[in-house]
Amino acid sequence: MKVVVLTGAGISAESGVPTFRDADGLWEGHRVEDVATPEAYEASPAAVHRFYDARRAALDAVAPNPAHTALARLEAALGDGLLLVTQNIDDLHERGGSTRVHHMHGELRSALCRGCGGRTPWTGDLGDFPPCPSCGVTELRPDVVWFGEIPYGMDEIQDALAEADLFVSVGTSGAVYPAAGFVQYAAGYGARTLELNLVPSDGSHLFDECRHGRAGDLVPAWVDELLASLGGDSRP
Ligand code: APR
Repeated sequence: MKVVVLTGAGISAESGVPTFRDADGLWEGHRVEDVATPEAYEASPAAVHRFYDARRAALDAVAPNPAHTALARLEAALGDGLLLVTQNIDDLHERGGSTRVHHMHGELRSALCRGCGGRTPWTGDLGDFPPCPSCGVTELRPDVVWFGEIPYGMDEIQDALAEADLFVSVGTSGAVYPAAGFVQYAAGYGARTLELNLVPSDGSHLFDECRHGRAGDLVPAWVDELLASLGGDSRP
């Protein structure tokens, strides 16, 4: 069986990572256009670095929740049959046990060199403008896909969506493309589609089935159900 799971900020909410579209419309007190655009970085690299350095440091204080670990169990059972695509830049899927995570919007714990294009695992700050370990140029930026930039690995994602038997969207508002279009793309190639989200997303009507509630409850229950239907039970 081939499954594509797309996750968004909602899957990390119960771990204590704030979602993007809170009631006040701000991300950690900032307007998205002030911190998550190439224009913002050009205008004030120090301010953008301060913002992402704080987000990166905050990862130490959070831990994966049962939704993350359930998806790791799913990977263990399905192997290559699962493509886990996340819009999240945190590393909670990896810390929950997933080994092959497709970060379409980049990763906080990675730095991207504007000089040589190299991507380097990074856990410290970037605001002190350290040199790139590969080329030595002091042009490291957060390895995060900002608004107006192209997400990572779209070809591989589209191939997997076209082959999928099942597409599942977890904890995403369906407000940001191209991820918001995955449901229609997968359905167009014959996949069944399922939404797991706290509330109906912008694209709820596009799914075959929607379940609404907390990811920490819904995802483990759905994984158990899927694995039981496949004739295996990988619960520890
Ligand atoms: N369980 C399940 N879903 C939840 C939970 C929870 N505990 N808490 C919140 N949600 C849902 C919200 O109802 C909302 O629909 O998660 C969704 C989060 O939506 P957004 O904050 O818009 O996050 P996301 O969809 O991941 O944003 C997409 O937008 O700002 C950009 O690049 C950024 O990757 C991000 C993209």
